[in-house]
Amino acid sequence: MENILQQLEKRREEARLGGGKKRVEAQHEKGKLTARERLEVLLDRNSFEEFDMFVTHNCTDFGMETQKIPGDGVITGWGTINGRLVYVFSQDFTVLGGSLSESHAKKICNAKKICKIMDMAVQNRAPVIGLNDSGGARIQEGVASLAGYAEVFKRNTLASGVVPQISVIMGPCAGGAVYSPAMTDFIFMVKNSSYMFVTGPDVVKAVTNEVVTAEELGGAKTHTSKSSVADAAYDNDIIVLKQVRRFFDFIPLNNTDKSPTLEVFDSINRSEMSLDTLVPENPNTPYDMKELIIKIADENDFFEIQKEFAKNILVGFIRLNGSTVGVVANQPMVLAGCLDIDSSRKAARFVRFCDAFEIPILTFVDVPGFLPGTSQEYGGVIKHGAKLLFAYAEATVPKVTVITRKAYGGAYDVMASKHLRGDFNYAWPTAEIAVMGAKGAVEIIHRADLGDSGKLENHRKVYEERFANPFVAAEKGFIDEVIMPRNTRRRIARAFASLRNKKLSNPLKKHDNIPL
Ligand code: HXC
Repeated sequence: MENILQQLEKRREEARLGGGKKRVEAQHEKGKLTARERLEVLLDRNSFEEFDMFVTHNCTDFGMETQKIPGDGVITGWGTINGRLVYVFSQDFTVLGGSLSESHAKKICNAKKICKIMDMAVQNRAPVIGLNDSGGARIQEGVASLAGYAEVFKRNTLASGVVPQISVIMGPCAGGAVYSPAMTDFIFMVKNSSYMFVTGPDVVKAVTNEVVTAEELGGAKTHTSKSSVADAAYDNDIIVLKQVRRFFDFIPLNNTDKSPTLEVFDSINRSEMSLDTLVPENPNTPYDMKELIIKIADENDFFEIQKEFAKNILVGFIRLNGSTVGVVANQPMVLAGCLDIDSSRKAARFVRFCDAFEIPILTFVDVPGFLPGTSQEYGGVIKHGAKLLFAYAEATVPKVTVITRKAYGGAYDVMASKHLRGDFNYAWPTAEIAVMGAKGAVEIIHRADLGDSGKLENHRKVYEERFANPFVAAEKGFIDEVIMPRNTRRRIARAFASLRNKKLSNPLKKHDNIPL
């Protein structure tokens, strides 16, 4: 017995050392934590339970039989975040670059370790968080490691919409180590030490002769502001893991669970007088929609997603009376709040996440329409804009919409209008709901008077009187009520409370065919 215990301790020690002291030091020198240290920050203290610590690979090519490290470069198991169950894997870059092995389909190896916790997560209906720090498929294993990744991809797909999947990119990630995250719901990155690319700068140079740094090709800035692959980036390992803990509190454990309700220290009856003057007198003067979101949120807490991409639309999570709400809002500060290709894609994906996981959706509308022009048309704004239309129309979760100012044209329809099964559609007194703005409208319907500025001015006034208000829509029942801006928090919180037991379903189908 004593002998076994000694062996156990020795094996554990070996596993904890990963790829060895030198490589651990190199990891620390780059400002990165080790795979195990990361799990300690992510999970509640002493909550981590490890699986398969002694698993090794089964590859005999390229001298691999001498490079067997217990755990095989990935730490897997489960734990809790603020008391709620989560399955985790953390790739260990010090062991063969965290590369993924699958030496033999029937033996448990690195890929099988990840698959095992993914299967358990789906069976036990809890989220999966992957800490990725990996060079992708293990080169020495050839097609066997590709098969391993395909097993992971298959599970990412089957788990999608059943349990939330979150990826954190914490080092240079390539190949499967970026495609698997791409199939998950959210990707968080670490600034200046994490990279995502299908092929790294060396291959890019060899194939295209293009010289590019890892940071330019696949750093956090590139993926949060240009490609939109990543949802947020933070300064270092500790901050990103703390933010993932904060994020985790907003989401449910699975698609039939409700998001957690947190204790609130903010009265739901709080009114915000300053909102009465948020919208400027001049309809063409921008204002910051984020101010509205923050002012109505419990304790002013807004977890913004894709902050640096398509800034003409804001998406993220807040709580109202302790319960999670997904927010989508046009941002008049950027492109006057117009919808375009990028903002439609960004918001559509967010709406679909909320709908898949029963998170109610709050929409703030100030949109002059879709952005016109050849670059948008050639880029397929019709198809991309339709994504958002489709996402809102199919969503069956509670939907509350507030029009703060402009709701023009097709964009009015898109932004969670009554016609797309909006439950509560409110307008502020400053709302203008019309096919288009006054200037454009009179120039079309009074084309004969184009040379007469006096006449045009009269036509504009008549048009504004008729349409630059919420009443035409309210008369038709498309707006449920005109509410005072200062009361927005209370009114929407009450609306969502009344929708708590909402049941709505779509016609039976295999799956829909959203315009991808
Ligand atoms: C085996 C690997 C490896 C891999 C890195 N290593 N990637 N071992 N298989 N895929 C090992 C290195 O040999 C080295 O071992 C250690 O990890 C650290 O790697 P370095 O190159 O020294 O580190 P760094 O300079 O930081 O560069 C990291 C990197 C680079 C950018 C990830 O290693 C790299 O480009 N690797 C290959 C990426 C790749 O092309 N992967 C295959 C993808 S195909 P020692 O012993 O020196 O510590 C794929 C298919 C999936 O994944 C399907 C997609 C649809």
